[in-house]
Amino acid sequence: MNKKAVITGANRGIGKCFAMKCAQKGYDLLLIARDNGMLEECFKEIKSKYTVDVTIISADLSKPEDVKALVLKISEDTSIELLINNAGFAIPSFFIESDIEAQMDMVRVHNEALLRLTRAVLPIMKNNRKGAIINVSSTLAYIPFVTNSVYCASKAFINVFSDILQREVKGYGILVQALNPGRTKTDFYNRAAFQNVEKTNPKNKEISPEAVVDISFRKLGKSVVVIPGLNNKMMILFKKITANMIMKKKGIK
Ligand SMILES: NC(=O)c1ccc[n+]([C@@H]2O[C@H](COP(=O)([O-])OP(=O)(O)OC[C@H]3O[C@@H](n4cnc5c(N)ncnc54)[C@H](OP(=O)(O)O)[C@@H]3O)[C@@H](O)[C@H]2O)c1
Repeated sequence: MNKKAVITGANRGIGKCFAMKCAQKGYDLLLIARDNGMLEECFKEIKSKYTVDVTIISADLSKPEDVKALVLKISEDTSIELLINNAGFAIPSFFIESDIEAQMDMVRVHNEALLRLTRAVLPIMKNNRKGAIINVSSTLAYIPFVTNSVYCASKAFINVFSDILQREVKGYGILVQALNPGRTKTDFYNRAAFQNVEKTNPKNKEISPEAVVDISFRKLGKSVVVIPGLNNKMMILFKKITANMIMKKKGIK
């Protein structure tokens, strides 16, 4: 039985790059996203280049019934060696003015679906004594970006969860990573209609999704929290130092 990778948000952007890279590495693939047309395009592209098996499933990870069906499917598949929880989106808006159901959908995709899919594959990986889970977070987990409160908080959740999960499952030979990209060249910002993003995350500092994926694989098993790009690492360090300085100045310990 060949090893298999399950990838959410796999029909474009970072998720599609993960799919291409996994195919190159010889994984069979289970690719998940909503837009079936784009999934089919991915399927064709991968099959034209690689000899791996590819299954596509159109599912909306904000819908509990879709996630339940996926959990049923993957929890019986003992060939799963890699889970990449990548699907995500943002809804830039002040929380007070935002559509609460849309915000809850984001939490369901970033957090609830991630937890359920992770919980489903862990027993398989534990039995096989090998496996890896890559959870795609964001540098915005560390930056209080006004108009993105739920996005930032849901990504911080991913980092904390991944860090602790790695400690819990290390003994079973399972690797966990929280991948924190900064601004990456995908449709993400166009789709999310980010405002004022140029100030905090300028376009000229954008890195390619291929580079993000390469760094993720290179760092797997070496660091749990991975921040691709020196610029992004420096930005977070600077943010932490200034936050500490402000707290010190205000006498907060
Ligand atoms: N690009 C960046 O600068 C950046 C920076 C930091 C973090 N990230 C994170 O990286 C991940 C990938 O983003 P990207 O840049 O590749 O953006 P993207 O090109 O917009 O891709 C997002 C993917 O998530 C899927 N998705 C969104 N909502 C979904 C839902 N309800 N159910 C199932 N799939 C859903 C989309 O497919 P469908 O729309 O077809 O469902 C798509 O495949 C996200 O978690 C994002 O938060 C991106």
